[in-house]
Amino acid sequence: MKYTAVKGMHDLLPPATAQWVFIESTMREIFGRYGFAEIRTPIVEKMPLFVRSVGQTTDLVEKEMYTFIDQGEEALTLRPEGTAPVVRAYVEHSVHQKDPLAKYYYFGPMFRRERPQKGRYRQFHQIGVELLGAAHPFADAEAIVMLVDFLKTVGLRDVRLEVNSIGCRKCRPRYNADLQHFLQSVAGQLCEDCRRRMVKNPQRVFDCKETRCQQALTDAPTIQDFWCEECSEHFTGVCNALDAQGVQYWINHRIARGLDYYMRTAFEVVTHIQGAQNAICGGGRYDGLVEDLGGPDTAGVGFAIGVERLLMLLEAQEQALPIATAPPIYFALLGEGARRAALPMLAQLRAQRKVVEWDYDGRSLKSQMKRADRLNASHVVIIGDDELGKEEAMVRDMATKEQIAVPFTQLVTHLQGKADAA
Ligand code: HAM
Repeated sequence: MKYTAVKGMHDLLPPATAQWVFIESTMREIFGRYGFAEIRTPIVEKMPLFVRSVGQTTDLVEKEMYTFIDQGEEALTLRPEGTAPVVRAYVEHSVHQKDPLAKYYYFGPMFRRERPQKGRYRQFHQIGVELLGAAHPFADAEAIVMLVDFLKTVGLRDVRLEVNSIGCRKCRPRYNADLQHFLQSVAGQLCEDCRRRMVKNPQRVFDCKETRCQQALTDAPTIQDFWCEECSEHFTGVCNALDAQGVQYWINHRIARGLDYYMRTAFEVVTHIQGAQNAICGGGRYDGLVEDLGGPDTAGVGFAIGVERLLMLLEAQEQALPIATAPPIYFALLGEGARRAALPMLAQLRAQRKVVEWDYDGRSLKSQMKRADRLNASHVVIIGDDELGKEEAMVRDMATKEQIAVPFTQLVTHLQGKADAA
């Protein structure tokens, strides 16, 4: 029996984990500056939470959820996204009673049973943000400004921020009816998927990548002609606030979003490098969701970034990401006696926040030196029988290749100033 990871789910090994740590710590630093704090919710939720919030007829709920019956009692789902769990927690803990504004971010795995391909996985990770309790367009703009700040800080270039308003419960039905009417007139040119979307969720046809569908949609009505006054004002407010903060964006009235809880502002960060999987980030406003999930009437806006897609893009543009640890001091120890003598020195150096590496099993000097090279060691401390007898070590500076003898008693002090590995 060969044991392998589940299809579409991936292991993450060093040194790649270092890039994730960098992304995660940048997230904490940037989002912290805007007054957001981390929230952690369980990976498993009760299934009806997603059916109610994401929507019964969405692709996500219809075919992509990992749901199981827990001991024959209750349907549980591996979370496919983070907004519904965060809102559930917000309502469950009556957060609104303590503070009218709640500003959260999260980092974690999400699960969707999609057809795996490059940039699309069954377990993937999101960096998400939810800003609850603010209905003003300044809140939408602040979320977007923070997103752009983060993407710039990690070094992402050549992406487009596209912004739209998908209307509200008042004005969208009129638009959907008009769009449906149009789609019926071109139904013969649409793919099977789009013909299905046309009935259930007509705005989703704009996401279709088929050329023939794109061509058929050239003259399709777009949402801005149907906005009610409030939606129109809100959108102008968001754009003005973005302009005032120097954010570059494109207005794309065809952004639809695949989850039902959205209203008004919808935005995406897209790239053209990856072909079909071109969305790095998606987000928008979801006033009404808190109430739908049993809470008070509360506004909400947020976004989520796909971490795998972000890293893939950074790699494609050859963005150098930091490595996790500083170069170590490597102890090449020959014989049991040398290893024993080195133990207190290892402890003292580590107590001084130096990164120290050694070999537990005492392989040959050659293989230990090879490992020191591979680990990019700044210094190698060599202790063999001779050195042990004289109670001194040979210290080799790997950059200059200089090697000097240092008494055991002075070794820690000697290395203190040298290798700055903290
Ligand atoms: P979403 O557009 O479904 O939105 O997902 C956000 C991002 O997650 C996508 O833009 C993409 O980068 C990444 N993503 C989605 N599915 C996959 C997959 N199968 N493999 C790899 N990456 C993927 C949401 O999830 C909303 N909860 C965002 C939000 C937060 N809206 C308001 N607040």
